Amino acid sequence: MNFQRTRRLRKNTNIRRLVRETQLSVDDFVYPIFIEEGENIEAEIPSMPGIKRWSLDTVSKELDEVVALNIPAIMLFGIPKHKDSEGSSSWQDDGIMQQAVRFIKQHYPQLYVITDVCFCEYTDHGHCGPICDHDVDNDATLANIAKQVVSHAKAGVDMVAPSGMMDGMIATIRQALDDAGFPNLPIMSYAVKYASAFYGPFRDAADSTPTFGDRRTYQMDPANRDEAMREAMLDFEEQADILMVKPALSYLDIIRDVKNQFPVPIACYNVSGEYAMVKAAAEKGWIDGTRVMMESLLSMKRAGANIIITYFAKEAAICLQQQH
Ligand code: PBG
Repeated sequence: MNFQRTRRLRKNTNIRRLVRETQLSVDDFVYPIFIEEGENIEAEIPSMPGIKRWSLDTVSKELDEVVALNIPAIMLFGIPKHKDSEGSSSWQDDGIMQQAVRFIKQHYPQLYVITDVCFCEYTDHGHCGPICDHDVDNDATLANIAKQVVSHAKAGVDMVAPSGMMDGMIATIRQALDDAGFPNLPIMSYAVKYASAFYGPFRDAADSTPTFGDRRTYQMDPANRDEAMREAMLDFEEQADILMVKPALSYLDIIRDVKNQFPVPIACYNVSGEYAMVKAAAEKGWIDGTRVMMESLLSMKRAGANIIITYFAKEAAICLQQQH
């Protein structure tokens, strides 16, 4: 009989281990943390079971766990008390994000701290920059982004991750950091970020839902693949150190395209809605939540992501420890 028996290499665990092409590791994970201005806050987010909003006097509980699990990095989101039309509390030296960075770098020097750089949590209208003619004003936003990143840099952040999808964002940030004396501070660009319904639970968590309209004039159309290459190329040329694709699961093709095309590390963001779907179905007993979690994280790695930003980081780290 003239046929190939591929099943030979699936016979048992040992041979499957030997021929396995992709391995997940705790080294791949970045864990997002929501920091709210105030005291004594440890607030559950209903649509994201297991994820909380913390204040700076409670967040050590969470950070201790992250360190104990050997997760290398966290990504911070700030929820300020004060919002205005420009999001000016995002660039104050005593803003919530700046305080958080100083606190964490002082008490957890072993953690790599990345900040999300955006305005939607800081503006009273929930858009990612100041509004002009019912739309986000690109260049006015750039001027404010420069102030925001420099304030994060001064607070001691290890990496900045701009998520606003403004044109010229990476060039502006690189210039601002270089001019302020931070030429070695890396930028992870949310280079390919789609206008996605999968961000729903995050907007509840971060209190950043737009009060009018949506984000389709700055985030990408989910139908576009060639345009993703253009976005990635522009940010690569503007000297982004890491390119991110977001969301992850519905965009695995894009992760692979960007991976094949650009010689920099590729990150993907396993977003809130992707997390919520797994949690909800598992809670109903309809899927095995742990296995679906590990399979989907593995698929992101297989697609080409070197870095996975995920709310599952702690659970997946525990799962990987148990496999050994
Ligand atoms: C914007 C930002 C968003 C997310 C990360 N950064 C929301 C948005 O663009 O509306 C979404 C993350 C998630 O859904 O987990 N600052």
